[in-house]
Amino acid sequence: NIRPVILCGGSGTRLWPLSRKAFPKQFIPLVGGKSLLQLTVERLAALGPQAAANMLVVCGEEHRFMVQENLEAAGGAGQLILEPAARNTAPAIALAALAAHPGDLLLICPSDHHVPDSAAFAQLVKSAVPAAEEGAIVTFGVVPSFPSTAYGYIEQGEPRASGGSSVVRFIEKPPAELAEQLVLGGKDLWNAGIFFCRADTLLDALLLHCPDILGACEVAVQAAVRDGSFIRPDAGKFAASRSESIDYAVMQKHRNTVVFPFSGAWSDVGSWNAAADLTPADTEGNRVVGAGRTVRSQNTFIHAPHRPVVALGVSDLLIVDTPDAVLVAARDAAEEVRQVVIDLEASN
Ligand code: GDD
Ligand code: MG
Repeated sequence: NIRPVILCGGSGTRLWPLSRKAFPKQFIPLVGGKSLLQLTVERLAALGPQAAANMLVVCGEEHRFMVQENLEAAGGAGQLILEPAARNTAPAIALAALAAHPGDLLLICPSDHHVPDSAAFAQLVKSAVPAAEEGAIVTFGVVPSFPSTAYGYIEQGEPRASGGSSVVRFIEKPPAELAEQLVLGGKDLWNAGIFFCRADTLLDALLLHCPDILGACEVAVQAAVRDGSFIRPDAGKFAASRSESIDYAVMQKHRNTVVFPFSGAWSDVGSWNAAADLTPADTEGNRVVGAGRTVRSQNTFIHAPHRPVVALGVSDLLIVDTPDAVLVAARDAAEEVRQVVIDLEASN
């Protein structure tokens, strides 16, 4: 009984000016007119009719209608747990585990990743069912291609009878030097940000590693107001929870963790370069969304959903047009967008 849990509360700043607090990355139509959330729901619905009909989406109150539209458009159904405030992924996941049945196999997924091969993903998840049934927290690992400091690292240990390998240790977002060592060592995989386990396994782990977070979420869910498919945890009680990611709160400390290598394509769409890659390139390496047009230009990306935007005689640019802000950036500066947005906000 696989029950998808979709985490839909991030407020990415890396895809500014398209992503904003009111319109985060997962809602932007980035792949052939579809949003990453919509594609995530489609990928999870492909696990079977039961999974499709019983999804749990954890999101902010202000995003409930956008989430509902995406869910329906992608053939998913279920319940929306509306967070009265953002407290990061450990409390968000705790709410889902408390709302589920203890024996449900929760497949906890980010809403803002791109995994193009749904069939390979479904097969991998199904191969991990025995390990999850046995009480492990299953993670999925991607072979690292560079020493990123934006990912968690999972050291693989011995293969296990029920599939996958035991996890020697989990290191969330290591500093650059350690990340380099881990990549050179060849034993570590990137954490893909997907967790698979029984709901009761997760509740036990939360009780062991962060009882304060579980406690705050428990009372918030006990006092929740249910309204159709919306579950509204008590605002004051939930706000009392500490804000921490599941990676720091649980994964770094937990013992019974298993990793399954994931060899399919995977992207967390962490910059405009990665987002540009989701649109096919022409022979000059240009990628265009909407009313963009390139003339005598190379390796240039234009996102222009509203009006014509022309790039003439330029190379290696990222151009993103919105009604009230425009980004023009060198391709090799894509990683700096996040800092620019932080500086912009500070100066306003
Ligand atoms: N509901 C809810 N509430 N969702 C949230 C919240 C929250 O407060 N905060 C984050 N999320 C959602 C995001 O929308 C995203 O889909 C997912 O949870 C993961 O959060 P991120 O904030 O994107 O985490 P990260 O990218 O820094 O790190 C995680 O993902 C990496 C892979 O992309 C970690 O798990 C790393 O270990 C991992 O490598
Ligand atoms: Mg992320």
